[in-house]
Amino acid sequence: MVLTRARSISDHDGDEEFVNSTFASRYVRCPLPKWRMPEQSVPKEAAYQIINDELMLDGTARLNLASFVTTWMEPECDKLIMASINKNYVDMDEYPVTTEIQNRCVNMIANLFNAPVGDSEAAVGVGTIGSSEAIMLAGLAFKRKWQQKMKAQGKPYDKPNIVTGANVQVCWEKFARYFEVELKEVKLREGYYVMDPEKAVELVDENTICVAAILGSTLTGEFENVKLLNELLTKKNKETGWDTPIHVDAASGGFIAPFLYPELDWDFRLPLVKSINVSGHKYGLVYAGVGWVVWRSKEDLPDELIFHINYLGSDQPTFTLNFSKGSSQIIAQYYQFIRLGFEGYKNIMENCTANAKFLKEGIEKTGRFEILSKDIGVPLVAFSLKDSSKYTVFNISDSLKKFRWIVPAYTMPADAQHIAVLRVVIREDFSRSLAERLISDIGAVLKELDAITAQIVSSTTAHVSVIGGSLVKKSEREIQEDVTKHWKCFVNEKKTGVC
Ligand SMILES: Cc1ncc(COP(=O)(O)O)c(C=O)c1O
Repeated sequence: MVLTRARSISDHDGDEEFVNSTFASRYVRCPLPKWRMPEQSVPKEAAYQIINDELMLDGTARLNLASFVTTWMEPECDKLIMASINKNYVDMDEYPVTTEIQNRCVNMIANLFNAPVGDSEAAVGVGTIGSSEAIMLAGLAFKRKWQQKMKAQGKPYDKPNIVTGANVQVCWEKFARYFEVELKEVKLREGYYVMDPEKAVELVDENTICVAAILGSTLTGEFENVKLLNELLTKKNKETGWDTPIHVDAASGGFIAPFLYPELDWDFRLPLVKSINVSGHKYGLVYAGVGWVVWRSKEDLPDELIFHINYLGSDQPTFTLNFSKGSSQIIAQYYQFIRLGFEGYKNIMENCTANAKFLKEGIEKTGRFEILSKDIGVPLVAFSLKDSSKYTVFNISDSLKKFRWIVPAYTMPADAQHIAVLRVVIREDFSRSLAERLISDIGAVLKELDAITAQIVSSTTAHVSVIGGSLVKKSEREIQEDVTKHWKCFVNEKKTGVC
């Protein structure tokens, strides 16, 4: 019980005070201010309790299977995070150790991605808020390099474009719109949900600032074939005299491939790969708020994008979109690197992959789903219903909420938008026993939806229509339409109370 020292409700001068339980105080019977800052203060205990209680209605982060972002860290790291929560990262002169820790992380990531840097040579890269900021920075570097080249050749430089698959994460669309670069997307097709390297290279022209490949598609976890892209683009560059580079969006896969598939060529081992981003807060195993971008070499990051400030102390080069930001996430990233080491990351990624396999097999056993994710890729299971005529993956996603699972359902991008899938991301903290529970809850949901559908079918009709005073048997299609109509009514009734 939280005790709070609060003013009496009848005491408007505020002289008379009493000690009371928060739940016996006036604070729990007044609505919380939503539009204007309140005139008066409330005791800290009451503020804490009221906000904490409202937050109880949020979903449970660890049961949120929609997200790639870390939901569990060791308590020792939580301590480090809290100890540095008041440090502004940008004050590098004041917090030189934090800056040094960031640089160590950049070096470790660049080495992990096989950047051509010597043993004690500083790598080129920066910590960001996440992969989105990292991608904006990488994109800006490509755009500026391309502009410089076109200017030097006396050619127009006002129509840059970037080539990606239609499966890219929304941050690429943001980059294109915010920084005025045309997004040329390779369309998907049924059964093929990643960028086809041949089609991507066909789209490349003299105004292409780069081709972006994804190591771990957000939609299905599948790794795109960066090696083949590098080969095809090298050939095209040779034929045309262009030098179109590659960026790899390794938001999720950057901390998976090096540990599980060290032989896979996707990183700086491929000469056209000039920059790579990775989310520290996904399989880098840190709470939300950290990403990384690394460049192959200094030459790939135009100097004119780097700002030098000196008003916080010494000369500080910065290349970020935001100025101030917290230090905790960077410190937490370093904690994970030294705490887990290569061995620890490998073990965790192996566990995630084994649990994803187990879940996939359980889902397959229902006989009702087609699996769209691949065994090699980000540990997730993406699956679609084989038969969506009676209910859809959206109904399944809705029904799973009753068991407190958050499993997203979505449609694929163009030209596979008729495919709707469910996706379960396997994170470090999704153990085998949770996977077992999820399989059994999916089974229960299917049973329930089947029963409802059967009920609807029998209640809809005697499968006959009255035409001209006589009974005529309905066609299969008419029955199906009846079922769909009643199903929609049922769902709407659940959502709105009206049918
Ligand atoms: C492939 C890919 N790129 C970029 C992003 C954006 O990452 P962040 O949330 O770290 O900004 C995501 C997020 O899911 C992603 O899956």
